[in-house]
Amino acid sequence: MEKVLVTGGAGFIGSHLVSRLCESDKEIVVLDNSWRGSLENLGDFRNRIKFVEGDIRDYSVVKKAMEEVGTVFHLASIQGTKFFYTHPDLILEVGLIGNLNVARAIVENKVKRLLFTSSSEVYGQPRIFPTPENHEIIVPDIKNPRWSYSVTKIAGESIFLNFAKKYGFDSTLVRIHNAYGPKMGWEHVIPEFIRRVVLNEKFTIQGNGTETRSFCYVSDIVDGILLAASKEEGKNEIFNLGNDKEEYRILDLVKLLSNVSGKKIEPIQIDKLEGSTSRRIPDISKARMMLGYDPKVKLSEGLKLAFDWYKSKIESIIKYPSKPFPWERG
Ligand SMILES: NC(=O)c1ccc[n+]([C@@H]2O[C@H](COP(=O)([O-])OP(=O)(O)OC[C@H]3O[C@@H](n4cnc5c(N)ncnc54)[C@H](O)[C@@H]3O)[C@@H](O)[C@H]2O)c1
Repeated sequence: MEKVLVTGGAGFIGSHLVSRLCESDKEIVVLDNSWRGSLENLGDFRNRIKFVEGDIRDYSVVKKAMEEVGTVFHLASIQGTKFFYTHPDLILEVGLIGNLNVARAIVENKVKRLLFTSSSEVYGQPRIFPTPENHEIIVPDIKNPRWSYSVTKIAGESIFLNFAKKYGFDSTLVRIHNAYGPKMGWEHVIPEFIRRVVLNEKFTIQGNGTETRSFCYVSDIVDGILLAASKEEGKNEIFNLGNDKEEYRILDLVKLLSNVSGKKIEPIQIDKLEGSTSRRIPDISKARMMLGYDPKVKLSEGLKLAFDWYKSKIESIIKYPSKPFPWERG
């Protein structure tokens, strides 16, 4: 029976991934510092896994959690665009030290395979749409803290590719594009919009709403991660994961949410954050061809599932508006 480690496994994508891994006979270890993730996210399958509460910046913790592990799914990182602006120092620490710790521990523990969750953010503000994997990866403005996260993903890709080549393990990198669904925290566009509708708050949107995104339901992202990490063809490759079938303007997303919630929404424009990307859609033909990846959930269906879940949790945001960083500096 293979033992696998999921770093960040109590978070949004991690907990959905762990839920799917629980359907296999694998022994599962989750390493998470419970900042954005929580044991609650691991729900019914809490007793099926070993949960290690710890920080990936601590090498001894990472090394221990990885003992006798065959495959590492490395997801732990600080997500959420607003934190890129407010906490670039922590984003860099967790991303850079954490990624290096994971790479070193893989070598020391003789782990066979790694899957690293990189991001569409590595393309900066792309020039080609849909954006293929061989598009240049770029930091558009090193002075803008927004790009601190993308720096950690670009460095992470380089770390894992080079350690894998030198020390002989297999690495697979997936660049995730705009995942959404239940359990993603409140600091992303879809949950924020749902909160405003449910609580009848002022409905602000950044810019004029003509920016586009292609949102991908979390179960489709998890399908891609599992295919990429298990197939022979996925070894030492880079894949975009996302949904290329639908591209929505933010204004269209608002209309869809109005239909799903049955409420009239009148969006109020506010300034865009500096560095915001006007369009994002992945070219997923490589994952389709090599892995048989095929995202299935339409935004109209996934948005309804997310809306119902967030609506049922709305009390928690009234009681606990936002979790503080446990490692916040004084
Ligand atoms: N959600 C998306 O649309 C998206 C897009 C691109 C890439 N990704 C990547 O996918 C992965 C999962 O993202 P997510 O949306 O599930 O984010 P998330 O914030 O829900 O999950 C990340 C998890 O990592 C944990 N974590 C953070 N810092 C840690 C530390 N120092 N030590 C141990 N654990 C730590 C958090 O507690 C959380 O549970 C991340 O690597 C993210 O960068 C996500």
